[in-house]
Amino acid sequence: MNFLILLLSSAISIVCGQDRVITAKLNPGCAECTSANTLVYIKADSSKDSIHQLWDFTGGIPTVVFALTELNSTMQVKWDRQVPVKFLLSETPKYCFAIAIDKLYEYNDVEDKGHISPQCEQRPMSLKYMSWTLVDSVLSDKEVMVRVHGQYKHSWRAGVVDVKLDLIPFYDYAAELPRLIHTANSTLVDVGLVNITTSKDYNSSRFALHMLLVSTDGWGETMHYTMRKSLDDEHTPGVFEIIEIKTPESYVKDDGGYIQFRPVGYTEPKREVSSSTSVRVSPLKKSAVPERSTLERFFRDFETESLLVQDVFVSIGLTGDQFYRQHNFTSWSFTMGYGSPPLETFSLFVIMIISIGLGVPLLLALSGVVYVVISRIRQRNSNQPTRFTDEE
Ligand SMILES: *[C@@H]1O[C@H](CO)[C@@H](O)[C@H](O)[C@H]1NC(C)=O
Ligand SMILES: *[C@@H]1O[C@H](CO)[C@@H](O)[C@H](O)[C@H]1NC(C)=O
Ligand SMILES: *[C@@H]1O[C@H](CO)[C@@H](O)[C@H](O)[C@H]1NC(C)=O
Ligand SMILES: *[C@@H]1O[C@H](CO)[C@@H](O)[C@H](O)[C@H]1NC(C)=O
Ligand SMILES: *[C@@H]1O[C@H](CO)[C@@H](O)[C@H](O)[C@H]1NC(C)=O
Repeated sequence: MNFLILLLSSAISIVCGQDRVITAKLNPGCAECTSANTLVYIKADSSKDSIHQLWDFTGGIPTVVFALTELNSTMQVKWDRQVPVKFLLSETPKYCFAIAIDKLYEYNDVEDKGHISPQCEQRPMSLKYMSWTLVDSVLSDKEVMVRVHGQYKHSWRAGVVDVKLDLIPFYDYAAELPRLIHTANSTLVDVGLVNITTSKDYNSSRFALHMLLVSTDGWGETMHYTMRKSLDDEHTPGVFEIIEIKTPESYVKDDGGYIQFRPVGYTEPKREVSSSTSVRVSPLKKSAVPERSTLERFFRDFETESLLVQDVFVSIGLTGDQFYRQHNFTSWSFTMGYGSPPLETFSLFVIMIISIGLGVPLLLALSGVVYVVISRIRQRNSNQPTRFTDEE
């Protein structure tokens, strides 16, 4: 039964052909770009369609856009010096989904709740004014990865926002904790806040990320927050919950955008169970795309009514953890993707446990039945002569 589930799920993944052929370019068509400009364009083709991805840091606000089109479509980026101003798709996309981390919020958590609330004193830090430097990249047909460091150049706030984006075009668990599942339809995002200077007038500083989610579902709709319990925590020890935020299209028909993550963050660069902390998201609210942003430029030609824009706060921390200054580090990961969020398959270990768990009682029950039957037969056999003799 359990082997069947495993077989079935791997068969499904093979039949559906999750793998895509990827091609990636850094700053395509930009003559004046330097290492201070990072815009990655990726085309990921299946046998039926293409997903175009933009990973943009040129406008300060880290932005990832997914656009689903027919095969053989192209995207061209028009630049004004080092600013991407137009994104020309050769056809109208069937669906688009985008996320942006537009702000960090520093908040004074005097009640030590571990998450931001409207009652806290808080200070937004727009990432629009952040400068991003490319520190690592892989642009191959097996993997596309960039790592960038964001810093405020002219601010009293020192420290680094470390962002890594990674596309590996097949189904597997990520190497690092919390070992999220990546597929050909999704991109892994890691965000770290390293040595960020906190405000002098706050004695209980924490940080929260402010994220925007945009999709080409209608303006009047809403994204859906769901929490599932996984069956085992083998990949992410101690964490059984999986959280997803799905666009209406993904929620209803499994062909929209989603983000998926586990409610766990880390307080040290080396991710371990001992350095894990909790993550909490706020309810989703209606929002708007920031002015003069890549999001605005990308979605300029869409009707306002056809765009759903919502925002959410992601707080990383835990009551009693001595606030951000204890480690001067927090990190969190999520995947964003298209289609239905990947489900974890049973591992061999769990299948063995379940099989033993079900098999041993079954065996005992069976042997009990066999024992009863045999003893009945024996009894009858040994009774028969006596009965006969009694009757005689
Ligand atoms: C896409 O282009 C390739 C080669 O250029 C061609 O063989 C294929 O038929 C095209 N597919 C579609 C759907 O137009
Ligand atoms: C953050 O600060 C720690 C301790 O001062 C230092 O070891 C580390 O290199 C810093 N990290 C970055 C990215 O600046
Ligand atoms: C921070 O300051 C407030 C008063 O301004 C005080 O009530 C609170 O205990 C202080 N918290 C810490 C962790 O020092
Ligand atoms: C974190 O940074 C603050 C200064 O911003 C410093 O006082 C504190 O000692 C640092 N903590 C660690 C663990 O390095
Ligand atoms: C990936 O996207 C394609 C749409 O092109 C869809 O058919 C497929 O189901 C998606 N895969 C997953 C795992 O959602």
